[in-house]
Amino acid sequence: MDAFEYRDKTLFCEKVKIEDIISEVGTPAYIYSKNAILARYHELKAAFGDVDSLICFSVKSNSNLSLCKILAEAGSGFDVVSGGELFRTIKAGGDPSKIVFAGVGKTDGEIRDALANDIFMFNVESLAELEHIDRLARDVGKVAKVALRINPDIDAKTHAKTTTGKKENKFGIDFTEAEGLIKQSSRYPGIELCGLHVHLGSPIYTVDPYVNALRKIIKLIEKCRDAGLDIEYMNIGGGYCISYTGEEVIRPRDYASKILPLVKEMQCNLLMEPGRFITGNSGILITRVTYTKETVHGKKFIICDAAMNDLLRPALYDAFHRIWPVTTGIPMPKVEEPEKAAVKKGTELVDIVGPVCESSDVFASKRALPKVGEGDLLAIFSAGAYGFSMSSQYNSRPRPCEVLVDRDQYRIIRERETYDDLIKGEIIPE
Ligand code: LLP
Repeated sequence: MDAFEYRDKTLFCEKVKIEDIISEVGTPAYIYSKNAILARYHELKAAFGDVDSLICFSVKSNSNLSLCKILAEAGSGFDVVSGGELFRTIKAGGDPSKIVFAGVGKTDGEIRDALANDIFMFNVESLAELEHIDRLARDVGKVAKVALRINPDIDAKTHAKTTTGKKENKFGIDFTEAEGLIKQSSRYPGIELCGLHVHLGSPIYTVDPYVNALRKIIKLIEKCRDAGLDIEYMNIGGGYCISYTGEEVIRPRDYASKILPLVKEMQCNLLMEPGRFITGNSGILITRVTYTKETVHGKKFIICDAAMNDLLRPALYDAFHRIWPVTTGIPMPKVEEPEKAAVKKGTELVDIVGPVCESSDVFASKRALPKVGEGDLLAIFSAGAYGFSMSSQYNSRPRPCEVLVDRDQYRIIRERETYDDLIKGEIIPE
């Protein structure tokens, strides 16, 4: 979280005081550090530098045009999962020849768009999809590059709702069926099967699931080669973890040390699809305390102006995000234990909630927080990935603005929505 640091008892993003940004843009507001994003991109690129690799930034984690543009300029490719993400990526200056298109339900329209833009590769998740891509490619006289997404039936030991590589998940082609499909692929002249893909879930806090999946896939690649088929690319997906609690977690070089030998053994070029690792700890959400409320049962609620519609992760996955006042004399603990709030002098146990009419609209419960009152600002950390991109207008709440900081400069990269934005496109029948 080094892009966000307390100096003289107040929070900075790079060289800019958060309070200065907020006095101009208001709350709630997402704030991103450009240089943190770039540092993480380069850290990952360097860690896997031993092989020919392409990082395809997972647009779903944060699809803001300015962020995609920064990454495009740094040389990144993109992992998209919808026609909308493809549209955004190209608008942001993403190079189509570095775009991979994943997802279990690509429509014909989306496939046609991707073919028209000459994207790099489709990650294919079923025989039915393969047949559609083949037909649509032939219709326009093209041959689509394809990687088969394998479901290796590996438990990534992450949240049940973000696990994707187990046999009961909807993703990928069952490991046992993949070989037959690969061997039949020459029957489809509209496709060139040149890669395999795997994404196990996210976030993944150990390297073992990747290693176990790749060990299984190596055998498949050998069988393909025996059958005279060349697999040029191995796409290992995303899922690289970040620290949400301040604790040390494994870093790209730790993943690389165990993954690279296997990729080398495969003699494949490496593709990867990180999202959270690049944007997660490069962004925060700032909210203002509207009220505090103490119940007769002894509970204290901090009611703030951001809500589950702005940051859904706590409500959806019980995800832990650190929360601390923007200005306070009490230092934020270096590490927090999600299950065990440490109440120290000056802090109290509170529930930090939003105004949405749902009991799940809770950012944190039984959290030790320095005493705050109406009008105080709180920072919700690790909000750069799956924050704004999963936001909605639920309860007819205009979505927050987004701000990008670059050293001592900042600018708004998405305006706060207005009430007019809420009713855009709606038609009242006469
Ligand atoms: N590739 C594929 C095929 C994916 O499905 C995903 C994420 C990624 C790459 C990027 O994963 P990352 O490196 O960001 O962990 N909304 C959830 C996470 C769901 C991610 C879905 N797929 C969250 O807030 O944690």
